[in-house]
Amino acid sequence: MADIVDLSSDDELGDVDVKPVKLEPGLVGRKLQQNENNEALLVKHQKSKTPCAIRESEENRSSNALSTGHSNSSILDQGQSPVDDTGLSYTSPLSPAPLCRQFWKAGNYNDGIGSKVTIQNGKNYLHVHPMFLHSNATSHKWAFGAIAELLDNAVDEIQNGATFVIVDKTSNPRDGSPALLIQDNGSGMDPEAMRRCMSFGFSDKKSKSAIGQYGNGFKTSTMRLGADVIVFSRHQDKRVLTQSIGLLSYTFLARTGHDRIVVPMVDYEFNTSTETLEIMHGTEHFMSNLSMLLQWSPYSTEADLLKQFNDIGAHGTKVIIYNLWFNDDGNVELDFDTDPEDIRISGDTKKVNASSKWKTVNEEHIANRFHYSLRVYLSILYLRIPETFQIVLRGRVVEHHNIANDLKFPEFILYKPQTGGSVEGQVITTIGFLKEAPHVSFHGFNVYHKNRLILPFWQVVSYLDSRGRGVVGVLEANFVEPSHNKQDFEKTSLFQKLEARLKEMTWNT
Ligand SMILES: Nc1ncnc2c1ncn2[C@@H]1O[C@H](COP(=O)(O)OP(=O)(O)OP(=O)(O)O)[C@@H](O)[C@H]1O
Ligand SMILES: [Mg+2]
Repeated sequence: MADIVDLSSDDELGDVDVKPVKLEPGLVGRKLQQNENNEALLVKHQKSKTPCAIRESEENRSSNALSTGHSNSSILDQGQSPVDDTGLSYTSPLSPAPLCRQFWKAGNYNDGIGSKVTIQNGKNYLHVHPMFLHSNATSHKWAFGAIAELLDNAVDEIQNGATFVIVDKTSNPRDGSPALLIQDNGSGMDPEAMRRCMSFGFSDKKSKSAIGQYGNGFKTSTMRLGADVIVFSRHQDKRVLTQSIGLLSYTFLARTGHDRIVVPMVDYEFNTSTETLEIMHGTEHFMSNLSMLLQWSPYSTEADLLKQFNDIGAHGTKVIIYNLWFNDDGNVELDFDTDPEDIRISGDTKKVNASSKWKTVNEEHIANRFHYSLRVYLSILYLRIPETFQIVLRGRVVEHHNIANDLKFPEFILYKPQTGGSVEGQVITTIGFLKEAPHVSFHGFNVYHKNRLILPFWQVVSYLDSRGRGVVGVLEANFVEPSHNKQDFEKTSLFQKLEARLKEMTWNT
């Protein structure tokens, strides 16, 4: 049988000593406000008389996930792997592993341990070191490219009934620091799907029209934007309603010196006959995972965690990225302050070379502003958005913008890409001049793949070639493969042919 890359820590965690927790008896038998419909659910722990709502003892709990040191009671905090699955495992030395707040510098910490391959039940399991979370995320050079991945996951849920995705600023209750919220009302994830979401290379998407295909976007994007992410998902399948909470925390893994990726998760199932929420996978597993969630997530009680489902509705997913990365100037890379209805990239306003008369027109042009304004980027991110679906950025709907509508003297050019003599589909390019041409310095092609913008204003001819000045095109090229960060295409011969064809089109316009 093929080797399996083992990333799902939670099953292993069943054997781990549960960290001492302070019980909060007040929550047992107490009704929790659950969703918008005020549906009251009770949390009940199966096979246990232990009350459900547990809270870290104040001495052990960190007050700030980033500034915390080590507690001395948790087996995980002692730098051990959650389970000794080899019989040969060794105890890793405790490592303080301070995390740098700047993304591009946060990839190296010395945990004093090397990755290893372990043998369990005769099979070789490869482990993925936590540093891989960082290196994997470096594929996103641009923070908005990472946000786009999370929007893609919501847009892929349109076929499962999603009608909105919310992108907003929220705050980490531990310390009030800004956090990024992405929430949709798609079908949500059941416990298994949540595990796959947190794993690498698993994609559930079977539909040909889905944007997601590599099973990596969630991990690269969240880890590119911040050190930590918590996910809440509610899923309803026939009569079974589940709620799952998962935590992918670079801070936790680095600070506790883990040599492999451990993802604390808890799952609940709604019992319709008793109208209570019951924990899944056994009390011991639940308690150890909950304990880690309460220590390393922004929420310090189970009730606070469960409150996050209050606005999720019947099904959907909420992703909260916290401990957002800083830029080189020491500011949070995502700027929530300059425009309360937008998210900007701090310090990324582009200076445009143009005569003073046309400077403002150039600076205000969509081809310039999408670099630093999320509202502008999201307005062109999808070629088509169904009327039933809205992207809501910081409380205001993003207006869809079709760049093809900005063109004067538009032409529609059919191209049939071919390899080895066989036609690989067909694509119609809309090409014309920007309305502001020749006074704006932008040109190039906006290349979409399965409805998603991959290359914005891709310059196939040099700017110095005056024949291309102001010429802009829009096309959907489904016959070429996007690269893993979805900001470029694989450089196949089909792609090279497309590039040559688009050059010709530019010169002929
Ligand atoms: N908002 C969401 N709602 C429902 N399921 C989701 C959501 N986000 C992620 N998932 C699930 O998690 C899986 C992994 O997501 P991820 O973005 O990592 O990969 P992908 O979308 O399948 O492929 P790609 O790497 O191309 O984005 C998805 O296949 C999907 O099953
Ligand atoms: Mg995806």
